[in-house]
Amino acid sequence: GEAKYITITKYDKDFRSKQLIKDAIMDNDFLKNLDSSQVREMVDSMYSKEFAAGSLVVREGDAGVHLFVSAEGDFEVIKDGNVLGHMGPGKAFGELAILYNCTRTASIRAVTNSKVWMLDRKVFQQIMMRTGLQRLQDN
Ligand code: CMP
Repeated sequence: GEAKYITITKYDKDFRSKQLIKDAIMDNDFLKNLDSSQVREMVDSMYSKEFAAGSLVVREGDAGVHLFVSAEGDFEVIKDGNVLGHMGPGKAFGELAILYNCTRTASIRAVTNSKVWMLDRKVFQQIMMRTGLQRLQDN
């Protein structure tokens, strides 16, 4: 079908937050090969959300709508009811359903009152697409 462009909203952040998001993206096996311009756009387009202790940030089996970076707090990765591990701040997660168009492979639960950075799937896809087109023009 016809390409639908959306307006990408940028959200101001302090230097430390930008650095945390950038480092988290570069540390993720599935995201580390993005162009620096793509990473910068993702950093600028993420917005924050707080989660109360005990609440689910991501539910296993759901469709993926956001990519996340943990900012504050402690998070559990849960699959089939088993806790697979813990994450602190500075981890990118929720990338699998966004990149591979699958359902969420695990749940992520906020263990403490927590804060995450979020990016909408449509924004992620547009950042990927636009830079891909730019690359074709540059060749
Ligand atoms: P996604 O499947 O979109 O949503 C759940 C996320 O949990 C997944 O992306 C990964 O980011 C993360 N995840 C899945 N399995 C594991 C695991 N075994 N250890 C750590 N993180 C995981």
